[in-house]
Amino acid sequence: TPKGVELITEIQRLKKEKNAVILAHYYVDGEIQELADYVGDSLGLSQAAEKTEADLIVFCGVHFMGETAKILNPTKKVVVPDFNAGCSLADSVPVAEFVALKAAHPDAIVVSYINCSADIKAMTDIICTSSNAVQIVESIPADREIIFAPDANLGRYVAHKTGRNLILWEGACMVHIDISLEKLNTLKKEYPDALLIAHPECKEVILKEADYVGSTTALLKFVETSPNSTFIVATEAGIMHKMKQAVPHKHLIPAPANEQNTCACSECPYMKMNTLEKLYNALYYELPEINLEESIRVPAYKAMKRMLEISQ
Ligand code: 13P
Ligand code: SF4
Repeated sequence: TPKGVELITEIQRLKKEKNAVILAHYYVDGEIQELADYVGDSLGLSQAAEKTEADLIVFCGVHFMGETAKILNPTKKVVVPDFNAGCSLADSVPVAEFVALKAAHPDAIVVSYINCSADIKAMTDIICTSSNAVQIVESIPADREIIFAPDANLGRYVAHKTGRNLILWEGACMVHIDISLEKLNTLKKEYPDALLIAHPECKEVILKEADYVGSTTALLKFVETSPNSTFIVATEAGIMHKMKQAVPHKHLIPAPANEQNTCACSECPYMKMNTLEKLYNALYYELPEINLEESIRVPAYKAMKRMLEISQ
């Protein structure tokens, strides 16, 4: 494997040679974001994966995101830098237990957050992301029961916004629930003019304190358009890369995590499994590849497609 500048040049060369596209989530390291053709939130990345004309999709994010690209664009080869980059939300739903929940509520419409496995998507009526969850739930007739899985914090936020009673799956994002309310309150005292902006995967106690709640893309747009100049950003710290580029003159403070880690901020260990070396290897060897059985992909596609049609 080449090193340093040579590694970056080789990734760019291979990308052209193989007609590949690199898609990256905001939470991966900045150096990977810089090499990507598209950086975005889960909705934007799905839309980009669906419409790409590249032959090879290299998805720098976590496993369910690679699966989502394959669900939407099955004739393309989809590879990921690290097959073991999972997600605490996706991992919180064993298929058998989900089958049991559905059986207990046979008339319910199933809305699943995109952070779930292809197996769960295949058992879902409509997928949602953090940028359209409220809109998706509002699109369902008021007299229908709704199962909302797997993020209970997002679910409670959506229930509060829509006034709907949701049957929640008690899953959580290990990164967002680890943001420390106590440390946030100390920061707020230190920076009384700062606006607290938060991702809806955060706990209810944090969302209650927030001045604005939104998906990663929405948070980025908010700091760009708000007249305010100081923000405490309660989401994964990878978003800081694009935020700093977008508003270099503004003061951005990443929300602190309970556990003291190297950056004293909130980092997703799965997103950080993406490295330049692994990206290079994925491009070079076209491995590890994401493949799905059609019996799973087709119903999962229907649930994804319903979401994409509603959030055009
Ligand atoms: P969005 O990028 O859709 O806001 O989702 C955040 C997240 O946790 C992705 O894993
Ligand atoms: Fe999953 Fe949370 Fe990591 Fe996103 S930040 S991939 S929701 S564990």
